Amino acid sequence: MSKVATIEIDGKKYEFPVVEGTENELGIDIKKLRAEAGVITLDRGYKNTGSCESAITFLNGEEGILRYRGYSIESLAEKADFLEVAYLLIFGELPTKTQLDKFYADIKEESTVDEEMKKILDGFPKSAHPMGVLSSLTSALIAFNPSSVNVESEEEMYKAIVKILGKFPVLAAWTLRKKNSLPLNYGDDSLGYVENLHKMMFEKPGKSYKVDKAVIDALDKLLILHADHEQNCSTSTVRMVGSSHAGLFASISAGISALWGPLHGGANQAVIEMLERIKEDGGDTKKFMAKAKDKEDPFRLMGFGHRVYKNFDPRAKIIKKSADEVLGQLGVDDPVLDIAKGLEKEALEDQYFVDRKLYPNVDFYSGIIYRALGIPVEMFTVMFALGRLPGWIAQWREMRLMKEPIGRPRQIYTGENLREFKEVEKR
Ligand code: ACO
Repeated sequence: MSKVATIEIDGKKYEFPVVEGTENELGIDIKKLRAEAGVITLDRGYKNTGSCESAITFLNGEEGILRYRGYSIESLAEKADFLEVAYLLIFGELPTKTQLDKFYADIKEESTVDEEMKKILDGFPKSAHPMGVLSSLTSALIAFNPSSVNVESEEEMYKAIVKILGKFPVLAAWTLRKKNSLPLNYGDDSLGYVENLHKMMFEKPGKSYKVDKAVIDALDKLLILHADHEQNCSTSTVRMVGSSHAGLFASISAGISALWGPLHGGANQAVIEMLERIKEDGGDTKKFMAKAKDKEDPFRLMGFGHRVYKNFDPRAKIIKKSADEVLGQLGVDDPVLDIAKGLEKEALEDQYFVDRKLYPNVDFYSGIIYRALGIPVEMFTVMFALGRLPGWIAQWREMRLMKEPIGRPRQIYTGENLREFKEVEKR
């Protein structure tokens, strides 16, 4: 029998259907609440609000479960590569070899950007943050490509998807090359998606390009771990912008801006900056632990805590192992990493952190790996965006195919009541 929720307001009862997901999650469908009872729900930060029904990613924060299209993150991180995961997220099933080859061939066909884009990039100062540049360039792609996608056409939808997957790594690499005063280049079609990305980013003129396999494997894994995370801030932004029927590139550009913030994707950069600050201050981790716990002090331990994972972040478990492996293989010896280890140990044993269930999240370790791989700190969030791209695409596509209405939350107004206007001389 289907479940019903009853809400009582001023002695009057209203009944609402309860929607049940495939993993038995329950949600009260309050669509008719305002029309029937004249009230709305108020939920700052949407901590208890489901914005959609989605078949892409399942996440259980209490039990530390993360699955893409039903596959555990652990199995995907171990056995799949990033492009397979991208296909899975976007189209719902793991690709056959033929499907995967065609998908990559189509992406490669789209992996050039209009030469005019270089002029736009040229207009940015070298000091610009790569996330700001990437968001602007992604938005500028619209000028060179159809601004909206006919979502009724499978073919048009597919074209837009392979276009963004092809061009985005080029733009990401160019933001870095511009910063490093290196010539803008293109990749090598004979390489895999992730290796090609790495080459575009780091290849030096006149030098033959070589990379350790361990580096590409670690990068591939990091991108998989970041590929989707259901209705987080940037994904909700992509869906929200897309819900006005703005095109895919415009929606993704907005998602990049949302991801930039230090409370979201910017956390991996904030982690390294915090560790550097601790090192420069003399390396006293206890002092910074105390600051993090002091309510009068705005300092927070970056890379700790998560909005939904309140026991552990399953991605952090996988990536911690990978961090240990890659640091060992590359023989990295870095005092900042020693501070990270010390902080991790102290926080895991500290009552304040234990009581609030604050554990290292994926970005605590991803920042450490990116640093060991020689990726500059300001590029960390760009790496996150590269990983999250398939998730944004999948969520945007699902939202459009399900014909979701335009997103438009309500509010409780707390401002002035009606006031009489006074001319400027009388104020
Ligand atoms: N350091 C110190 N105290 C913290 C931290 C932290 N990193 N995170 C949370 N707390 C404390 C809060 O002060 C609060 O304490 P109180 O109950 O005594 O008031 C309690 O823990 C609960 O914190 P909230 O802010 O309510 O938790 P919320 O779920 O809203 O925030 C967030 C989650 C934003 C991730 C937060 O933990 C944080 O700011 N972490 C640091 C930034 C970070 O690492 N972000 C990356 C998130 S992962 C990602 O985007 C991929």
